This record gives sequence, C-alpha cells and structure tokens, in this order.
Amino acid sequence: MSETTENPGGWKQVVLLSQLQPGMQCVQVDRRKVVIAKVGEEIFAYSNLCPHSGGPMNRGELNDAVVTCPLHGWRFDLKKEGAETHGYRPLKTYPTREESGNLLILI
Ligand code: FES
Repeated sequence: MSETTENPGGWKQVVLLSQLQPGMQCVQVDRRKVVIAKVGEEIFAYSNLCPHSGGPMNRGELNDAVVTCPLHGWRFDLKKEGAETHGYRPLKTYPTREESGNLLILI
C-alpha cells in the first residue's frame, strides 16, 4: 500500500521548530487535534484522543516518552509507536519530519 493511500492527507506543516518548548502542546491539523511532544531532542506527534474513551491526552502527564491519560491512567510509550504499556489499544501516532525550520507531520 502506498504512503498516499495510507495517509491521504499527506505531510502537514504544524509549527515552527523554534517555537517548540519541552513538554506537550495541542495543535489543530485539518479537523484533528494533535499533540506535539518534545522530549529532550526528540519530537513526537499523536492524537489528542485516548483510544480507551476519548480522554484529552494533552492534559495527561508526560514522563520521559511515556504519556499517561488523565482519565483512567492508560500509559502510552511514544518510543514504541504509542504502545500501551499493559497491552491495551495503542495511541494513534503520526510520523514527523523537519524541513526548513518547520515541523511536519504525516496525516
Ligand atoms: S479515557 Fe484514557 S484511559 Fe480511559
């Protein structure tokens, strides 16, 4: 399956890299809310909706690259493509890349 078929929205510019602060920030990309997390020098992008029951992930807790949902405590490892630490449903993550000082995500 091609990248275009899997990700019909394509690469979207979301923020200037110079504006990214450590921690999480929520941005609107098309009609989706996406959380951008900066952990050290790494940047992750993931859905703002928890796969359990739609909890707001941008209000969760971020420790290293593990984000905890504020509603029922599911924990997602961003370094493992959003895998839930107990094997529950994973968090939707998005590929990122940098270009000309901008952060782009593949929607
Ligand atoms: S809504 Fe996130 S753990 Fe329940």
